[in-house]
Amino acid sequence: MFVNDNRKEIIRLLKQSEGNPVSGQEIGEKLGITRAMVWKYIRALRKEGYDIRSSPKIGYTLDAYPDRIDSDELGKVLRTSLIGTDIRYYSELGSTNNTAREIAAKVTEGTVVIAETQTNGRGRLGTEWQSASGGVWVSLILKPSIPLENVSKITLVVGIAVTNALRALNVDAHVKWPNDVLVKGKKICGILTEVSAEVEKVDHIILGIGINANVKLSDLKDEIRKNSTSIANELGKTIDRTTFLADLFYELEQQYIRFKTKQFTDIVDEWINLSDTIGKEVKITTPNKIIEGKAVGITERGALVVIDRNGNRQEIIAGSCRYSN
Ligand code: BTN
Repeated sequence: MFVNDNRKEIIRLLKQSEGNPVSGQEIGEKLGITRAMVWKYIRALRKEGYDIRSSPKIGYTLDAYPDRIDSDELGKVLRTSLIGTDIRYYSELGSTNNTAREIAAKVTEGTVVIAETQTNGRGRLGTEWQSASGGVWVSLILKPSIPLENVSKITLVVGIAVTNALRALNVDAHVKWPNDVLVKGKKICGILTEVSAEVEKVDHIILGIGINANVKLSDLKDEIRKNSTSIANELGKTIDRTTFLADLFYELEQQYIRFKTKQFTDIVDEWINLSDTIGKEVKITTPNKIIEGKAVGITERGALVVIDRNGNRQEIIAGSCRYSN
């Protein structure tokens, strides 16, 4: 085994024991190394930020560990056969969507790009996406053979998957049209969908998902912070982002399979059930018009239906949405 594997294995054993001490002898036997070597690794791990307590004659206990995504561990705990089967993990990137775009043609569908931090995180409509440490910043590459007009449906599908993954943690998430996830009206996740297509047929889709997981709200700029929340803020404790990513990928895969095999009406019904938008007074801005009225539904095409101030039914496939009151 390589040095790094031994370190990771020790962390695995200590995490598995859930706060109970594990003796140097037991670790040594499992790894096929001496107790002295175990002690050497423990010291190295402490330098990396792992808080490992050593009690003479009893063993080692992991009290705290640095909040980082463990991509090797993620590969091991995945329950998917497509999403996340190729993981490209980086400590820092400009934007995971940019990197995903660069590699998209060469990699298989389901490849994900993950970064601990982004220096140039991008939001919709050319906005900046603040990507401090502690977040889940991930881009998923999909290659469905669908016409271009069906792409907005995939964004709805991803919104459902993120919302379900958050609800599984007891975070009361709701989808906001077209592609935000909110908790009590505050944004916890944004989705940036980018497409490469030839004439009418999709080549690949990049779904950039930004979730304020363990992000400290105090790290966000004032104007963003007042409308934002994070998983840690909602739960009062940080989460293990590696496990969360495995659960998120599982949800994404289930929803993607459903999208490819079932009627879209099933998805529309679930989206409406999880929605924060339907029933609200909205102001929708598109490149060529502004529509104000009441959001009443989603069509078979994935468009938002708004009854405008003149009582006319409007179907909007893409745009930005603000609540009117
Ligand atoms: C929005 O609500 O404006 C969309 C935000 C999308 C942010 C994510 S973070 C991962 C991926 N990489 C980016 O640069 N943006 C998306």
